[in-house]
Amino acid sequence: MSNFWSIYIIAITVINIAGCVALLYFTRKKKPSGQETKTTGHIYDGIEEYDNPLPRWWLWLFYITIIFSVVYLILYPGLGKFQGVLGWSQSNQYAQEVKAADEKYLPLYEKYADMSIKALQNQPEAIKMGQAIFANTCFGCHGADARGSLGFPNLTDDDWLYGGSPEQIKASIMKGRNGVMIAWSSILSAQEIDSVSSYISSKNEQPRAFVKELVAEGEAVYNKNCAACHGQSLKGNQALGAPNLVDSVWLHGASPGLVKDVIRNGRMNHMPAHEDILGPEKVHLVTAYVYSLSQNKDKADN
Ligand code: HEC
Ligand code: HEC
Repeated sequence: MSNFWSIYIIAITVINIAGCVALLYFTRKKKPSGQETKTTGHIYDGIEEYDNPLPRWWLWLFYITIIFSVVYLILYPGLGKFQGVLGWSQSNQYAQEVKAADEKYLPLYEKYADMSIKALQNQPEAIKMGQAIFANTCFGCHGADARGSLGFPNLTDDDWLYGGSPEQIKASIMKGRNGVMIAWSSILSAQEIDSVSSYISSKNEQPRAFVKELVAEGEAVYNKNCAACHGQSLKGNQALGAPNLVDSVWLHGASPGLVKDVIRNGRMNHMPAHEDILGPEKVHLVTAYVYSLSQNKDKADN
């Protein structure tokens, strides 16, 4: 906050509080003595408005509110850049809470840090802690059930962009991933994009609609431009994160229209690195949880 805005906010706040005090002072009245009742002269539907002083209890509530606001603004941040004499801040409080939680859980984290991801599969408590970390950190992108959505991979199936071994999953989480599929609309003609889509559909293990006459041309386009990343057999390449194009799992949508759109416009997909956000112990536990999702699949489905 610049000095100007700080002073601006302080001025508005102080003027407002002073304004309330002034309003109360100048409108205060003595209770009228005797029986006569003064009216404001306003009459609505035959009902007159009395000009009585404000009720005492109501006035006191007002005074207390004003005193509270002054005390609050001295103790806590609220007046522009002034931090308050207590030095309290949200981020301090958050940092303290995180520190307290880490101190409480650190011995547990350390206990599991020495066990392999495979050994942790038999430690329900560790998997539960991993699940809690997942729910806090990953669900926004991968979904609460880790099944992902368009552009965000499903982590519960056996289909992996970068590999499903404990080491590969951990590397995805620690270092993040960048999936880059370039846009082909300026390199290939519309007809070539149609034909390569048909070729991909013709090779898929699930029946998909395709134009028979285009397949031969599509194969040539594929071998020249796409095989380097997606492989001669279209099964993808985990070193590049290039997806398998013959299975039924589609990262960016299964419909032929969406597949063509990916080829035409490309995709830049980013999984952020979590090494610094979580630290190695928490990554270890969340890896164990993610790994468990595809291991226990048969059991969970029954
Ligand atoms: C900002 C969104 C975002 C967050 C947060 C996020 N991810 Fe991801 N994640 C992605 C995207 C997008 C990809 C796919 C990257 C690509 O296509 O190259 C991905 C890929 C992955 C992969 C590789 C999947 C494969 O098929 O090889 C794993 C494992 C993974 N994420 C786990 C996690 C875990 C665990 C967390 C939480 C600690 C997490 N992600 C948090 C967006 C996110
Ligand atoms: C430089 C390597 C590279 C080349 C060359 C390449 N791709 Fe890709 N492709 C990728 C990567 C990486 C992804 C995944 C992007 C992501 O993570 O979101 C991808 C994604 C795709 C997808 C989406 C798959 C899904 O599951 O949704 C299709 C379809 C596709 N590519 C087709 C092609 C075609 C057709 C060509 C040739 C014209 C081609 N690619 C050339 C790397 C490449």
